[in-house]
Amino acid sequence: SGAPRPRLTFLGTGYLGATYAICFAELGYEVIGFDVDEAKIAKLAGGEVPFHEPGLNELLRKNLASRRLRFSTSYEEVAEFGDVHFVCVGTPQRANGMGADLCYVEAAVSELAPHLTRKALIVGKSTVPVGTAEWVEELVEKHAPAGLGVEVAWAPEFLQEGFAVEDVLRPNRIVFGAKSEWATGMLYAAHDGIFDLAVTEDREVPVVVTDFATAELVKVAANAFLATKISFINAMAEVCEAAGADVTQLSRAIGYDPRIGNRFLQAGLGFGGGCLPKDIRAFQARAQELGAGEALRFLHEVDLINQRRRQRVVQLAAELLGRKQGPAGPDLSKARIAVLGATFKPNSDDIRDAPSLAVAGMLARAGADVHVYDPQGMENARRALSDLTYETSMDDAVRGADLVCVLTEWADFRNADPVALGEIVGARRVIDGRNCLDPALWTSAGWQYRGMGRPRVE
Ligand code: UGA
Repeated sequence: SGAPRPRLTFLGTGYLGATYAICFAELGYEVIGFDVDEAKIAKLAGGEVPFHEPGLNELLRKNLASRRLRFSTSYEEVAEFGDVHFVCVGTPQRANGMGADLCYVEAAVSELAPHLTRKALIVGKSTVPVGTAEWVEELVEKHAPAGLGVEVAWAPEFLQEGFAVEDVLRPNRIVFGAKSEWATGMLYAAHDGIFDLAVTEDREVPVVVTDFATAELVKVAANAFLATKISFINAMAEVCEAAGADVTQLSRAIGYDPRIGNRFLQAGLGFGGGCLPKDIRAFQARAQELGAGEALRFLHEVDLINQRRRQRVVQLAAELLGRKQGPAGPDLSKARIAVLGATFKPNSDDIRDAPSLAVAGMLARAGADVHVYDPQGMENARRALSDLTYETSMDDAVRGADLVCVLTEWADFRNADPVALGEIVGARRVIDGRNCLDPALWTSAGWQYRGMGRPRVE
């Protein structure tokens, strides 16, 4: 398409905003990434992504060099530069409840708006409670200079950590919530690069153009569905444990039905991260406010199933170590336990609500001497849970251990050699919290193996 491309800004250079700013520069747009955090902006401007995401550093450096990409801490500069401003700030869980805290959205919009000097589009991307876009519109009305006709739209995103670049450049769908033809047109123009790339690769990117409320809901509905799918298979894992069945085979067998599908059907330690857990809670809180709480009551159960899987690992540890249940849970004192994995999933350094790290903490509270190793998450983990022992390699973590727990399915752990590890541990006992090891391989190397929702094998 020949129309001049709008200039884009991304407010908030956390995971979402930084990835978008970099990828949209790669697509050919002129971009500024904005953040109030000067240290973060200095890092990005210096060519360093402040978190681990495959492929992103290279794209950052390439696009800084192309001069299409800049970073700034000045609202004035951003307002002067941009035609379309994407709001990518965080919406954390409230300290005193399950709802989402919108203070960063409020700050970004009300600080940017007064500096605008021409008509522009403000596009929400952060995950928010339904109704937020209307409220943002009011904020803009209140804070933008009168008569500019600044408009608001909503364009939720669905990127997964570890696949962020691919998910932004090649999304499986795009959703626009808009109220006017001008806004819809600007949204298309601001995403032209994605459509152009799809055409050259002979793909289609479906677009759903809808109202504000629907666009906001699509995002949380998608995450709620994914969380439910994971908890469903983990509920089956509990039943498998009671019945002596194998959930990994059950999952494969039901997943062949295309109506069910095999993705997000891996039983294990359950979901964590900065999105699914907080999003299903905020969704319930918002539905409650809207008088539709009953409709989402099942999400409470989804959350509980997810938490129970963490307990299960502690239970399995006690069982394997031959420890008795006390009134406050099992006593694991004097047991040396290696925890492999601290991030909420592999190929990430993100430890937010990580099931692995949560279990490491629970084992330590039960008295165990916990030694943790993770290929990327050590720095973040140490900051979050300082009283565990952090090791610099898998071998150091497992050396002398009475029990090894694989809690994040990093390739290094999946491909670990049970014979070699068996030589350096104190006792060959392993809990496979992600069902990512081959039980036959490990048992033939003399290990007692316990998976999640799988029959015990000695
Ligand atoms: C999730 C969604 O997948 C994205 O589509 C969404 O854009 C994003 O949240 C967001 O709201 O920003 P992400 O948090 O990066 O992405 O992580 P996922 O890949 O969804 O994994 C979430 C958790 O579920 C991980 O702890 C993972 O180990 C667990 N999981 C995933 C399972 O336990 N079983 C599965 O079969 C799949």
